[in-house]
Amino acid sequence: MSETTHQDGWHRRVLEHRSAAFAVLTTLAISVGGIAEIVPMYAVPDNAAVADGIPPYTPLEVAGRDIYIREGCYNCHSQMIRPMRAETLRYGPWTRAAESAWDRPFQLGSRRIGPDLQRVGGKYPDSWHYEHMRDPRATSPGSIMPTYGWLHEWRVDPADITASVQGLATLGHPYADTSLAGVTKSMSDQAAGIVTSLASANIQVDPDREIVAMIGYLQRLGTDGRKLYAEAK
Ligand code: HEC
Repeated sequence: MSETTHQDGWHRRVLEHRSAAFAVLTTLAISVGGIAEIVPMYAVPDNAAVADGIPPYTPLEVAGRDIYIREGCYNCHSQMIRPMRAETLRYGPWTRAAESAWDRPFQLGSRRIGPDLQRVGGKYPDSWHYEHMRDPRATSPGSIMPTYGWLHEWRVDPADITASVQGLATLGHPYADTSLAGVTKSMSDQAAGIVTSLASANIQVDPDREIVAMIGYLQRLGTDGRKLYAEAK
């Protein structure tokens, strides 16, 4: 039986049977796809990988973010607002690459069983998050989000967070003080503010509970981007 039969289509006859030419054409096709994806990343100023005006997460926010990852919140929540009208109307300015510069690993997410959280910072008072994490049905009737009651019991160990902050500093995140004492002080200063705000809503909580770190993190999310990109929508 000959290699080419009358049933072979033009693609097989003209391309696949000429392996050298086919290899060259395949390489060309893949390069065009690659260039179309890679060039805009460097050409569009909005996508600059430098987080101008966006400071790294504070130690308390790093603690909250570590908990966010541990609990797998990204399985239901994205942190990436796409540049489409329906999204920007609902969530605010779309997500710029620079906003994820301090996110290692990034939390863009690909599933939205719950709403996008990119700009949730400042949307609700601290007390709302406290209640919502304890029982999502209490604040959002009919919610299918699981309860996270242990965040209100478990404590954050500053030594763990110091290790996280030192790891991020090694990767080039600009932290002025990565000592255990410095991280502990920064955490307790920021936590005190959240404890006070919760107290004004009649909620008593110790400053080292995980829920305090989680609130710190959630209230930070997307706030820099909202300020920086509000007009540029
Ligand atoms: C099984 C999916 C699921 C998981 C896991 C999940 N959520 Fe949710 N989340 C939802 C749904 C659905 C809503 C919308 C209803 C509501 O407000 O509870 C929501 C709402 C929220 C909101 C309010 C958003 C807004 O703009 O109103 C926050 C904040 C939030 N989740 C944080 C978290 C955090 C933090 C975690 C991890 C500790 C988490 N979620 C885990 C499904 C989930």
